[in-house]
Amino acid sequence: MIVTPTMYLFKKHLQPHLVSISRYMHNHAFSNFFCCQDNFLVNPDKVVDLAGTLEFIPSEVHPGKRTENLFQINDTCREFATYFAKRIADDVFPGMYNMLIDIRFHMNDVYDDEMCNKGWIHNDPASVAGVLYLNKDTRDFDTGTSMFDKVSLGGFKNPDVKSRNDFNLNKIVSDQYKKDLEDNHSHFYETLRSGNKYNRLIAYDSSIWHRPNNYKMSNGENRLSIIFFIEKYEFQKHNSMLKVQPTWRDV
Ligand SMILES: [Fe+2]
Repeated sequence: MIVTPTMYLFKKHLQPHLVSISRYMHNHAFSNFFCCQDNFLVNPDKVVDLAGTLEFIPSEVHPGKRTENLFQINDTCREFATYFAKRIADDVFPGMYNMLIDIRFHMNDVYDDEMCNKGWIHNDPASVAGVLYLNKDTRDFDTGTSMFDKVSLGGFKNPDVKSRNDFNLNKIVSDQYKKDLEDNHSHFYETLRSGNKYNRLIAYDSSIWHRPNNYKMSNGENRLSIIFFIEKYEFQKHNSMLKVQPTWRDV
């Protein structure tokens, strides 16, 4: 298997909430996929230490701060990112190769207004995505990630971009921001919830609606994770090892 992690600046991720819903209803080998694997890394402490050496940068296009793509920072980060990408391809998405992948550390900010610690429900302009939770010794059910079905009819109103950018970049909480966030949540029904647990990896079809549930950790730490996006990939289906030949046709 050839795995080619590629340096990639995820420009299309800048304003995902402004894009129509149907655009990301794609069909690929890992459509409708969700998985969760605990104890993903053998030595997660070493990765937390690596995160501690890096610069986290705020952006107007997402809440919290992120590092640059790990493939682009230094040799150590590139070595880890290459290992991480191979683990994902081999263990999480069997049959995946030649992925275009972006991997970053992410640290969330905490806000005095409790409502503002809740994330936006969104989907991502990628094929698949995932999160590795990295707060040591943590089991925090409310600060993980949930999946949702959209239950309202029709599309979204475009939320106010300025209030959202001000929130993301300068932590400015406006009535407009809270109104748009509340409206966002009103369109969805929660169908699956993963708690935040140290060294747990979740991975999913990024067209499934999802959100970080809450940025405020019960232990007072900043919520630390690795996030990854795979925009596209190639796939080779493995032959089944089972000799049975079912006559049932699932049609
Ligand atoms: Fe996302």
